[in-house]
Amino acid sequence: MTVPEKRPENNGAATVQERLVAEVTPLIEQLVAEKVASQLAAGDTTLWGPEAEPEASIRLGWLKAHETSRPLVPEIEALRAELAAEGVDRVVLAGMGGSSLAPEVITNTAGVPLVVLDTTDPGQVADALEGDLSRTVLVVSSKSGSTVETDSHRRIFTEAFAANGIDPASRIVVVTDPGSPLESTATEAGYRKVFRADPNVGGRYSALTAFGLVPSGLAGADLTTLLDDAEATAGKLGSDAEGNPALLLAAALGAAHARGAEKVVLADTGSGIAGFGDWAEQLIAESTGKNGTGLLPVVVENAEAPGFLDAKEDATPVAVGPAAEGVMLATEGTLGGLFLLWMTATAVVGRLLAINPFDQPDVEAAKKAARALLDAPPEETPTPTFVDGPVEVFAPDGLLAEGTTTLGAALGAFFATTPEFGYVSLQAYLDRIADASAIVLRPEVARRTGVQTTFGWGPRFLHSTGQYHKGGHQNGVFLQITGAVTHDLAVPGRPYTLGTLQMAQALGDGQVLADHGRPVLRLHFTDRAAGLAHLVKAVQEVGA
Ligand code: PA5
Repeated sequence: MTVPEKRPENNGAATVQERLVAEVTPLIEQLVAEKVASQLAAGDTTLWGPEAEPEASIRLGWLKAHETSRPLVPEIEALRAELAAEGVDRVVLAGMGGSSLAPEVITNTAGVPLVVLDTTDPGQVADALEGDLSRTVLVVSSKSGSTVETDSHRRIFTEAFAANGIDPASRIVVVTDPGSPLESTATEAGYRKVFRADPNVGGRYSALTAFGLVPSGLAGADLTTLLDDAEATAGKLGSDAEGNPALLLAAALGAAHARGAEKVVLADTGSGIAGFGDWAEQLIAESTGKNGTGLLPVVVENAEAPGFLDAKEDATPVAVGPAAEGVMLATEGTLGGLFLLWMTATAVVGRLLAINPFDQPDVEAAKKAARALLDAPPEETPTPTFVDGPVEVFAPDGLLAEGTTTLGAALGAFFATTPEFGYVSLQAYLDRIADASAIVLRPEVARRTGVQTTFGWGPRFLHSTGQYHKGGHQNGVFLQITGAVTHDLAVPGRPYTLGTLQMAQALGDGQVLADHGRPVLRLHFTDRAAGLAHLVKAVQEVGA
């Protein structure tokens, strides 16, 4: 992980390491003197100020989840055995953000298969339906019980099970908060099992609760080791000691932010923990990106990726310090321990940044805009500003010079709007399996523009970095990518299809970003493969 921003000339003064230590040490001493670690561990709800207190009072259950979740383990194992005895061993998880990112990391790391549906892409959902339904159990995970993507998956799978002669109720397992609309639906429909989650834990802090454990355990991950590992770390994280790794991490991030660093670049350097960056990305972005401040996580491919390399030159193996220099920090440990370390550090960063790390005030705006577009769809299909081969370009007024007709020229003009030390956000509303090669765009754009660049799959990122983009530092520029749908899927009982929902989510979020005064350029691939190839080529020509 690095925290690079601008890098001043080295004037031969103190070394990076010395300056880092000089800035972080007093912050750690302050956290120790204020007993922040022990108070957090004891569930003190006042740590984030009076405004955050009501929310904090119902959001600190994660601190003890490694203990309170223990009784779930035999329940999950029993259900897994029961299902296996019926020949049901394929687990599909419908869940967004905090309801799917942790299970994805846990199962990928354990090497056990889990099909994660956190998309509205019709092709991706259709592929999940193509799997052997006679062996499939669908886990519907939603804390609120009202998330539109997850509800759509539940409806589509219910119909598909029935169409294949399978009783849907016998194949649907629910994880939700007590009293949610999903709980009522599950009870009415007689679903196989309902796991009622701890309501005192928010989505992105729920890795060690039913949301992380049920899908992972049903898929075959070792839950006891995960909880044991978290427990083994918990004591250290609750101690008011200068060596407490959560305080070190929080102080490093806090000190970097105080120096003007807004980005945390996350790279895996061979940890064997697959997808941890995506999980940490959500935790950091949604927890800190609000009130015009925060840390933007930039998940990069590896330690050689553009955006990470610059910082590495000045780095020491475990260093903390001013972001202006670009400094590398390393965290290591077990998955259970790292979950708890990063959650604790993020909560402490919330205190240092004087924000409430448990709410997500700007996520709702995009949901509302998408809903409005679904309720009253535009009468006419929007007309592109121009079309370049398989790519339709939708540019905001004033972005492009008159007569612009090539994608390369449009991209050049668009990237040039990035403010100093700002960032480019690539948002692909595509199929993250079939269109997976779109991820090559991130390093390519970062390399060509020299600007920190994030990549998110839509609508998945709306439950993650989406909060930061609207609530954090307002210096991003947003390139949306949408694609033609060849086989759309109806959402049973709803007046929309998955394809229209996906497009409404893109257009709705684009509208909210534009309302924030941010530049948004949308590219629509009329042919996905050809469109992507054309875009990659155009990006490679930027600045050439
Ligand atoms: O961290 C959060 O609160 C969010 O990312 C949620 O996890 C996400 O929006 C899904 O919400 P729900 O579990 O209510 O469906």
